[in-house]
Amino acid sequence: MQFDAILFDLDGVICSTDEYHYRAWKAMADSIGVPFDRTINNRLRGVSRMVCLDIVLEKYHGPALSAEEKLALAEKKNDLYRTSLKEMSPADLPAEVRETLDTLRAMGLKLAIGSSSKNTPFILERIGLGDYFDAVSDGNNITHSKPDPEVFLKAAEMVGADPARCLVVEDAVSGAEAGHAGGMKVACVGDAAANHAGDWNMKSIRELIEIAGA
Ligand code: BG6
Ligand code: MG
Repeated sequence: MQFDAILFDLDGVICSTDEYHYRAWKAMADSIGVPFDRTINNRLRGVSRMVCLDIVLEKYHGPALSAEEKLALAEKKNDLYRTSLKEMSPADLPAEVRETLDTLRAMGLKLAIGSSSKNTPFILERIGLGDYFDAVSDGNNITHSKPDPEVFLKAAEMVGADPARCLVVEDAVSGAEAGHAGGMKVACVGDAAANHAGDWNMKSIRELIEIAGA
Protein backbone atom coordinates (compact mmCIF):
# COMPACT_ATOMS: atom_id res chain seq x y z
CA MET A 1 0.00 0.00 0.00
CA GLN A 2 1.30 3.48 -0.86
CA PHE A 3 -0.51 5.18 2.07
CA ASP A 4 -0.34 4.97 5.87
CA ALA A 5 -3.03 7.54 6.63
CA ILE A 6 -6.10 9.09 5.04
CA LEU A 7 -6.85 12.71 5.93
CA PHE A 8 -10.49 13.61 5.37
CA ASP A 9 -11.98 17.02 4.91
CA LEU A 10 -15.29 17.15 6.82
CA ASP A 11 -17.86 19.44 5.15
CA GLY A 12 -18.83 17.97 1.77
CA VAL A 13 -16.80 14.77 2.25
CA ILE A 14 -17.95 13.06 5.46
CA CYS A 15 -21.31 14.86 5.61
CA SER A 16 -23.18 17.55 3.72
CA THR A 17 -23.45 20.94 5.43
CA ASP A 18 -23.35 23.04 2.24
CA GLU A 19 -27.01 24.03 2.34
CA TYR A 20 -26.79 25.08 6.01
CA HIS A 21 -23.73 27.25 5.26
CA TYR A 22 -25.52 28.77 2.25
CA ARG A 23 -28.69 29.63 4.18
CA ALA A 24 -26.79 31.16 7.11
CA TRP A 25 -24.54 33.32 4.87
CA LYS A 26 -27.58 34.33 2.81
CA ALA A 27 -29.51 35.45 5.93
CA MET A 28 -26.49 37.37 7.23
CA ALA A 29 -25.89 39.04 3.83
CA ASP A 30 -29.61 39.93 3.50
CA SER A 31 -29.49 41.58 6.94
CA ILE A 32 -26.93 44.14 5.68
CA GLY A 33 -28.30 44.38 2.13
CA VAL A 34 -25.43 42.57 0.41
CA PRO A 35 -26.24 40.45 -2.66
CA PHE A 36 -25.33 36.79 -2.15
CA ASP A 37 -25.98 33.81 -4.38
CA ARG A 38 -24.86 30.22 -4.93
CA THR A 39 -22.03 31.28 -7.25
CA ILE A 40 -20.49 33.30 -4.41
CA ASN A 41 -21.28 30.45 -2.00
CA ASN A 42 -19.19 28.08 -4.15
CA ARG A 43 -16.13 30.25 -3.46
CA LEU A 44 -16.57 29.72 0.30
CA ARG A 45 -15.91 25.99 0.14
CA GLY A 46 -12.88 24.95 2.20
CA VAL A 47 -11.84 28.40 3.41
CA SER A 48 -12.03 29.75 6.97
CA ARG A 49 -14.99 31.68 8.36
CA MET A 50 -13.25 35.09 8.33
CA VAL A 51 -11.92 34.58 4.79
CA CYS A 52 -15.51 33.66 3.79
CA LEU A 53 -16.74 36.90 5.37
CA ASP A 54 -14.25 38.94 3.31
CA ILE A 55 -15.52 37.21 0.14
CA VAL A 56 -19.17 37.89 1.12
CA LEU A 57 -18.32 41.54 1.85
CA GLU A 58 -16.73 42.10 -1.59
CA LYS A 59 -20.18 43.39 -2.63
CA TYR A 60 -20.66 45.53 0.49
CA HIS A 61 -20.48 49.25 -0.31
CA GLY A 62 -21.70 50.73 3.00
CA PRO A 63 -19.69 52.56 5.68
CA ALA A 64 -16.36 50.94 6.60
CA LEU A 65 -16.72 48.10 9.11
CA SER A 66 -14.50 47.87 12.18
CA ALA A 67 -12.80 44.59 13.15
CA GLU A 68 -15.40 44.21 15.94
CA GLU A 69 -18.29 44.72 13.52
CA LYS A 70 -16.85 42.11 11.15
CA LEU A 71 -16.44 39.66 14.01
CA ALA A 72 -20.06 40.28 15.02
CA LEU A 73 -21.23 39.53 11.45
CA ALA A 74 -19.23 36.28 11.42
CA GLU A 75 -20.74 35.34 14.78
CA LYS A 76 -24.22 36.12 13.53
CA LYS A 77 -23.67 33.77 10.60
CA ASN A 78 -22.25 31.10 12.89
CA ASP A 79 -25.20 31.32 15.32
CA LEU A 80 -27.62 30.75 12.43
CA TYR A 81 -25.44 27.91 11.11
CA ARG A 82 -25.23 26.18 14.51
CA THR A 83 -29.00 26.32 14.87
CA SER A 84 -29.19 24.17 11.70
CA LEU A 85 -26.37 21.87 12.87
CA LYS A 86 -28.38 21.02 15.99
CA GLU A 87 -30.86 19.24 13.70
CA MET A 88 -28.15 16.87 12.44
CA SER A 89 -28.07 13.28 13.67
CA PRO A 90 -26.31 9.99 12.80
CA ALA A 91 -28.85 9.73 9.94
CA ASP A 92 -26.83 12.52 8.26
CA LEU A 93 -23.80 10.23 7.96
CA PRO A 94 -24.26 8.49 4.58
CA ALA A 95 -24.02 4.68 4.79
CA GLU A 96 -21.40 4.61 2.01
CA VAL A 97 -19.19 6.97 4.03
CA ARG A 98 -19.49 4.87 7.21
CA GLU A 99 -18.82 1.63 5.32
CA THR A 100 -15.83 3.13 3.51
CA LEU A 101 -14.32 4.44 6.76
CA ASP A 102 -14.76 1.06 8.48
CA THR A 103 -13.17 -0.78 5.53
CA LEU A 104 -10.17 1.59 5.37
CA ARG A 105 -9.63 1.18 9.10
CA ALA A 106 -9.79 -2.60 8.79
CA MET A 107 -7.07 -2.30 6.11
CA GLY A 108 -4.80 -0.84 8.83
CA LEU A 109 -4.87 2.80 7.75
CA LYS A 110 -4.89 5.70 10.22
CA LEU A 111 -7.91 7.92 9.69
CA ALA A 112 -7.86 11.65 10.50
CA ILE A 113 -9.89 14.79 9.91
CA GLY A 114 -8.35 17.90 8.31
CA SER A 115 -11.07 20.57 8.26
CA SER A 116 -11.09 24.38 8.29
CA SER A 117 -14.23 24.34 10.45
CA LYS A 118 -14.22 25.40 14.09
CA ASN A 119 -17.50 23.50 14.37
CA THR A 120 -15.79 20.18 13.59
CA PRO A 121 -16.09 18.62 17.09
CA PHE A 122 -19.78 19.57 17.26
CA ILE A 123 -20.57 18.17 13.80
CA LEU A 124 -18.67 14.92 14.44
CA GLU A 125 -20.60 14.45 17.66
CA ARG A 126 -23.95 15.16 15.96
CA ILE A 127 -23.34 12.53 13.25
CA GLY A 128 -22.11 9.91 15.72
CA LEU A 129 -18.37 10.10 14.93
CA GLY A 130 -17.34 12.02 18.07
CA ASP A 131 -14.56 9.60 19.02
CA TYR A 132 -14.13 7.74 15.73
CA PHE A 133 -11.03 9.32 14.18
CA ASP A 134 -7.41 8.73 15.22
CA ALA A 135 -6.84 12.50 15.10
CA VAL A 136 -8.81 15.66 14.45
CA SER A 137 -7.05 18.72 13.01
CA ASP A 138 -9.50 21.58 12.46
CA GLY A 139 -10.16 25.32 12.42
CA ASN A 140 -9.40 25.46 16.14
CA ASN A 141 -5.74 24.49 15.82
CA ILE A 142 -4.61 26.33 12.68
CA THR A 143 -3.65 29.88 11.79
CA HIS A 144 -3.65 29.56 7.99
CA SER A 145 -6.71 28.64 5.94
CA LYS A 146 -6.66 26.16 3.02
CA PRO A 147 -5.11 26.35 0.39
CA ASP A 148 -2.30 26.56 2.97
CA PRO A 149 -1.35 22.97 3.91
CA GLU A 150 -1.19 23.62 7.68
CA VAL A 151 -4.34 21.74 8.66
CA PHE A 152 -3.26 18.59 6.79
CA LEU A 153 0.38 18.75 7.92
CA LYS A 154 -0.86 18.91 11.52
CA ALA A 155 -3.21 15.97 10.94
CA ALA A 156 -0.32 13.93 9.48
CA GLU A 157 1.85 14.81 12.46
CA MET A 158 -0.91 13.85 14.92
CA VAL A 159 -1.13 10.34 13.46
CA GLY A 160 2.65 10.07 13.06
CA ALA A 161 2.53 9.70 9.27
CA ASP A 162 4.95 11.03 6.65
CA PRO A 163 2.99 13.52 4.47
CA ALA A 164 4.27 11.67 1.39
CA ARG A 165 2.38 8.59 2.64
CA CYS A 166 -0.88 10.47 3.31
CA LEU A 167 -3.92 10.68 1.05
CA VAL A 168 -6.12 13.77 1.39
CA VAL A 169 -9.83 13.51 0.55
CA GLU A 170 -11.45 16.79 -0.50
CA ASP A 171 -14.52 18.36 -2.11
CA ALA A 172 -13.01 21.86 -2.36
CA VAL A 173 -10.45 23.03 -4.92
CA SER A 174 -8.78 25.08 -2.13
CA GLY A 175 -8.54 21.89 -0.07
CA ALA A 176 -7.04 19.88 -2.94
CA GLU A 177 -4.46 22.65 -3.38
CA ALA A 178 -3.71 22.45 0.37
CA GLY A 179 -3.08 18.71 0.13
CA HIS A 180 -0.76 19.10 -2.84
CA ALA A 181 1.07 22.01 -1.14
CA GLY A 182 1.69 19.63 1.78
CA GLY A 183 3.29 17.06 -0.54
CA MET A 184 0.31 14.70 -0.33
CA LYS A 185 -1.72 12.88 -2.95
CA VAL A 186 -5.35 14.03 -3.22
CA ALA A 187 -8.58 12.18 -4.04
CA CYS A 188 -11.55 14.44 -4.78
CA VAL A 189 -15.34 14.21 -4.71
CA GLY A 190 -18.01 16.78 -5.59
CA ASP A 191 -17.00 20.22 -6.83
CA ALA A 192 -13.23 19.53 -6.67
CA ALA A 193 -13.69 16.30 -8.65
CA ALA A 194 -15.78 18.17 -11.25
CA ASN A 195 -12.87 20.61 -11.55
CA HIS A 196 -10.33 17.75 -11.90
CA ALA A 197 -8.42 19.09 -8.87
CA GLY A 198 -7.35 15.66 -7.58
CA ASP A 199 -4.91 12.93 -8.50
CA TRP A 200 -8.09 10.88 -8.45
CA ASN A 201 -11.49 12.44 -9.17
CA MET A 202 -14.12 10.12 -7.77
CA LYS A 203 -17.82 9.62 -8.44
CA SER A 204 -18.21 7.81 -5.10
CA ILE A 205 -16.18 7.86 -1.90
CA ARG A 206 -16.18 4.03 -2.08
CA GLU A 207 -13.47 4.33 -4.75
CA LEU A 208 -11.07 5.15 -1.90
CA ILE A 209 -10.92 1.48 -0.97
CA GLU A 210 -9.35 0.58 -4.32
CA ILE A 211 -7.11 3.68 -4.38
CA ALA A 212 -5.78 3.03 -0.87
CA GLY A 213 -5.37 -0.70 -1.45
CA ALA A 214 -3.18 -0.35 -4.55
C1 BG6 B 1 -15.12 24.44 5.76
C2 BG6 B 1 -16.23 24.85 4.84
O1 BG6 B 1 -15.18 23.06 5.99
O2 BG6 B 1 -15.21 25.12 7.00
C3 BG6 B 1 -16.20 26.36 4.66
O3 BG6 B 1 -16.08 24.23 3.57
C4 BG6 B 1 -16.28 27.03 6.02
O4 BG6 B 1 -17.25 26.78 3.84
C5 BG6 B 1 -15.13 26.54 6.90
O5 BG6 B 1 -16.20 28.44 5.90
C6 BG6 B 1 -15.16 27.15 8.29
O6 BG6 B 1 -16.30 26.69 8.96
P1 BG6 B 1 -16.79 27.16 10.39
O7 BG6 B 1 -17.73 26.05 10.82
O8 BG6 B 1 -15.61 27.29 11.30
O9 BG6 B 1 -17.48 28.48 10.20
MG1 MG C 1 -15.20 20.54 2.22
